[in-house]
Amino acid sequence: MNTIAAELRWTASEAYHQRACEVLPRGVTSAARAGGSPFPIAFERARGARIWDIDGNEYIDLVGGFGPAILGHLPPNVVSAVRLQIDRGVIFGGQHPGELELAELIRAAVPCAEMVTLCNSGTEGVQTALRIARATTGRQLILAFDGHYHGWIDPVSPPNDAGSSANARADRIVIEWGEMSKLDAVMELYGDQLAAVIIEPFPCNQGVFRPTPGYLARIREWCDRTGALLIFDEVISGFRVALGGAQSLVEVTPDLTVLAKGLAAGFPLAAVCGTRAAFSAARGDGPLKIGGTYNGQALGVAAAIRAVQHLRDEEKTVYAQLEGLGRQLEERISAAATETGRPLTVNRIGSILQLFYGLDAPAKNVAEMRRSDAAALTELTRGLLSRGVYALPRGLWFVSAMHSSADIDRIGDALVDALTDLPAGGRE
Ligand SMILES: Cc1ncc(COP(=O)(O)O)c(C=O)c1O
Repeated sequence: MNTIAAELRWTASEAYHQRACEVLPRGVTSAARAGGSPFPIAFERARGARIWDIDGNEYIDLVGGFGPAILGHLPPNVVSAVRLQIDRGVIFGGQHPGELELAELIRAAVPCAEMVTLCNSGTEGVQTALRIARATTGRQLILAFDGHYHGWIDPVSPPNDAGSSANARADRIVIEWGEMSKLDAVMELYGDQLAAVIIEPFPCNQGVFRPTPGYLARIREWCDRTGALLIFDEVISGFRVALGGAQSLVEVTPDLTVLAKGLAAGFPLAAVCGTRAAFSAARGDGPLKIGGTYNGQALGVAAAIRAVQHLRDEEKTVYAQLEGLGRQLEERISAAATETGRPLTVNRIGSILQLFYGLDAPAKNVAEMRRSDAAALTELTRGLLSRGVYALPRGLWFVSAMHSSADIDRIGDALVDALTDLPAGGRE
């Protein structure tokens, strides 16, 4: 496959990037896309498990739009639902039946969901959930976990995020994830001042870890004891790891859940759902007014209805397929590492994979993840790009239900070649 490397050209993407840097900061509209090597590639088309750049190169896509493309790009039934909706109108400034239909579908699928509200991005969903928690409990303090990502609003930003407000973070405590004793200590001290504990139930942004047995249940117990609300950020895991999200697999039910990437097959839409009690400040005579011009916008809602119906109707098939393809890819990654003698390891939950380079074993926590060789992963990603595989430099890979077993084999072959290009004895 090395010959393919010589054939790919990115002349148009390079020119695009130079021109874009004049008007778009770093040439991108979300900084996470700026790290592509040799430069961020510009795309013009995506369908199924394939994506095409503006130079006409075709790739097998492992980025999946950073997670939303569970059903691949442009699932036909979702596209026809959106087309139909365009003919009916996209914004009403009033209620429309789709919102209710979607809320009822989410209620039927997600364990904690007695009530639902809609917005448009994961970040907005987190903001909504925090507002609900603070208004419902009448408390300010939030507990969060190191390495968990909840979007880029100030209250959940890392302390070194340029331009973020230190004041907005003053009401937040961050602790190491997964350490039962640290959790107990902080809950003992601050539990009854907490409005909420916010957590990715399966931390997907810093390692794709499964929590140690009993950890989430212990958080649930502490929340019950102290009156803090438990918020699961299922922006990535929702609808991707199971129809009911991570909460249906770990059998711990939060008070509130944020859903986004998995909800609408790539169309922008997010939802916050939770118990009636958690929503008490936002309903009836409660003081909280949830706002947003585009909340419940009809195109995202139409897409989400069809996507969730599809996941519900094809539940067994789709999730077995995602698990099978994910497992095959994990096996190919391990085989490529063995074959080339390179220190590549992987964590996986269903169709979500995180690669590590230079560790003896896959990372078990954020501290270990931070020791993975980021520069080597970026180089590896570039090698894959040359061989027709588009993946994130940070090593977070998403498989979709539209990938085929043959696609996974092609990725495995490309990986062997790309790994062979990396220095054998480790990097300087
Ligand atoms: C777990 C999690 N929460 C929240 C967000 C923010 O979502 P968005 O980028 O749609 O604002 C993300 C985005 O990657 C995420 O992974």
